[in-house]
Amino acid sequence: MSKIATVLGSPRRNGNSERMAAAFAKGAAESGHAVQTLRAHGLKIGGCIDCRRCWTNGGHCFLHDDMPDVYRAMDGADVFVFAVPLYFYSWPAQVKTVLDRLLPYYMPDSKVDLRGRRAALLAAAGDESDSCFDGLRKSFELSCAFCQWEIVGEICAYGVHAAGDVASGDWLARAEALGRSL
Ligand SMILES: Cc1cc2nc3c(=O)[nH]c(=O)nc-3n(C[C@H](O)[C@H](O)[C@H](O)COP(=O)(O)O)c2cc1C
Repeated sequence: MSKIATVLGSPRRNGNSERMAAAFAKGAAESGHAVQTLRAHGLKIGGCIDCRRCWTNGGHCFLHDDMPDVYRAMDGADVFVFAVPLYFYSWPAQVKTVLDRLLPYYMPDSKVDLRGRRAALLAAAGDESDSCFDGLRKSFELSCAFCQWEIVGEICAYGVHAAGDVASGDWLARAEALGRSL
């Protein structure tokens, strides 16, 4: 059984990326995996201030906000899932902020090693072409390479604008199958 930590990036409840995450979680649960879901929009998480004081106050990061919820989930997970809407051809700010705050794991005195864990990208966008995800995919793939996470899947649903559009087509079936395949 794997433990999966999913970060939801959309401020829109029950929107397209969240539905993809729910389908993924359904498949994963059917295969006996445990899924913990965090809604980035509901957490108070500030941007990294590059103080380089990671690990110096007994925790991962010196800032006092809700990021420890994410740290705890990631420390204990085998698989990370980022379920996001495409915003200006990139990450929504809520998730970019979370990613920046992963710096403590990559400091020389890190007390938690996330290398070797797995990651998946679930994304939704209104544009009609898959190429709208080029920037997001590149960032995800380079970040996974840097973090030494194995990519287990990327499902990028395009042409989905209104909440629920993702239900047309096979996007949700693909997300569910990815969850089941872990
Ligand atoms: C601030 C903002 C920026 C967006 N930028 C893009 C974009 O660059 N390219 C695109 O195809 N869609 C863009 N969209 C549309 C969303 O990606 C699309 O509606 C998506 O399905 C939303 O997913 P959600 O329902 O999970 O929030 C943008 C939407 C918002 C609110």
